[in-house]
Amino acid sequence: MAQALRNLAINVLKNNNVEAAIGKTVVRANSSWWGNVEMGPPDVILGISEAYKRDTDPKKVNLGVGAYRDDEGKPFILPSVRKAEEIIHKKNLNHEYAPIGGEALYTDAVAKLAFGEDSPIFKDKSNCTVQTLSGTGALRLGLEFISKHYAKNQEIWLSTPTWGNHPQICNMLKLAHKKYRYFDPTTNSFDLKGAIEDIHKIPEGSIILLHACAHNPTGVDPKPEEWKQLSQVIKERKLFPFFDMAYQGFATGNVDNDAFAVRLFVKEGHQVTLSQSFAKNMGLYGERAGALTFMCGDEATAAKVMSQVKIMIRTMYSNPPLYGARLVTEILTQPDLKQQWLADVKTMADRIITMRKHLRAGIEGAGNKQSWRHITDQIGMFCYTGLKPDQVERLTKDFHIYLTKDGRISVAGISSKNVNYVAEAMHKVTA
Ligand SMILES: Cc1ncc(COP(=O)(O)O)c(C=O)c1O
Repeated sequence: MAQALRNLAINVLKNNNVEAAIGKTVVRANSSWWGNVEMGPPDVILGISEAYKRDTDPKKVNLGVGAYRDDEGKPFILPSVRKAEEIIHKKNLNHEYAPIGGEALYTDAVAKLAFGEDSPIFKDKSNCTVQTLSGTGALRLGLEFISKHYAKNQEIWLSTPTWGNHPQICNMLKLAHKKYRYFDPTTNSFDLKGAIEDIHKIPEGSIILLHACAHNPTGVDPKPEEWKQLSQVIKERKLFPFFDMAYQGFATGNVDNDAFAVRLFVKEGHQVTLSQSFAKNMGLYGERAGALTFMCGDEATAAKVMSQVKIMIRTMYSNPPLYGARLVTEILTQPDLKQQWLADVKTMADRIITMRKHLRAGIEGAGNKQSWRHITDQIGMFCYTGLKPDQVERLTKDFHIYLTKDGRISVAGISSKNVNYVAEAMHKVTA
């Protein structure tokens, strides 16, 4: 026995590995439990920001990151958010746990912002709304709930292209995802015909993910008439619409206009699921204030869905964070503050719209013969410029302008100081 123990100790010392020493399957390699983990690909957007930070050229411009910047290129704290902070500070609140699904004042206010104060879903209490960890948390929770509780072996259909995290979340959940046409690269605009043709072929009962407004990455939204056609075909195919609304107010500067598609679908009898984010429209990126709403048809079903969503939240992160939700609640429930916020959202959207105009005028003014109409036709924070990968590479290499390889630029990164420089560079790489 003593000899056996001595041998074991020697083996442990030699291998630095108890499992190997006692003859079990080796699970540890290179003295780490994680020796078998493969290196994952770096996050594309963060990679761009890091390359931008390393660049020492004074003319450098970051058009990669999807966060609003003011005309000085600085992060913008909305005046309405500042006021809400002061109010909350004076309230001397405690730091007890929030309810699992978030405070009712918050969930009521955010659902009303999206669906409209007088939406029928509030009269019959058929919605189940919970606070989530911003928009990403809402998508993850919503899709996980669908994977567990909706019909088995479902497929979700995503626009081509879509926000990179959509397929990643589906992959994580092993939820099969397929593509429907959305963007027409020949016109840099919405491919209505292609979308309708593809949606017509989607199997009944499948989930279809729709960007409610300010489509990321293309900046191309269907027009109201086109949304009506989409609603029609989605209804005919009996599809389950899941709206991702990360930019309410950011597209047109008006929160009601930007909720058009969601409200239209509700009016036309669809039972939608909706993810919301207050990262962009309140500038609360790091506070992680978001929401997930399931329309459930009736109050009893909503109560059952809520009970299961809460179980899912409880086992994931237990309770949502308080601070961002408190700011949102203050802003949406105090009429004066809400007016201020609506003006703040418009300020941000208007600056982006103005920068689009200047950028287009700058490229055209430089004598470029291509059509740049799409820069002003597209909407929201992003513009799909149509630049090819080699042109993007030249922009970065020769002009120190950073953007994703697909030619997407964040218009929020353009200011009155750099717009002429960016326009000139875009002209030069495409002329
Ligand atoms: C289309 C889309 N959905 C959801 C999100 C979620 O953002 P967040 O988790 O920061 O709220 C984003 C952010 O870039 C987005 O572009």
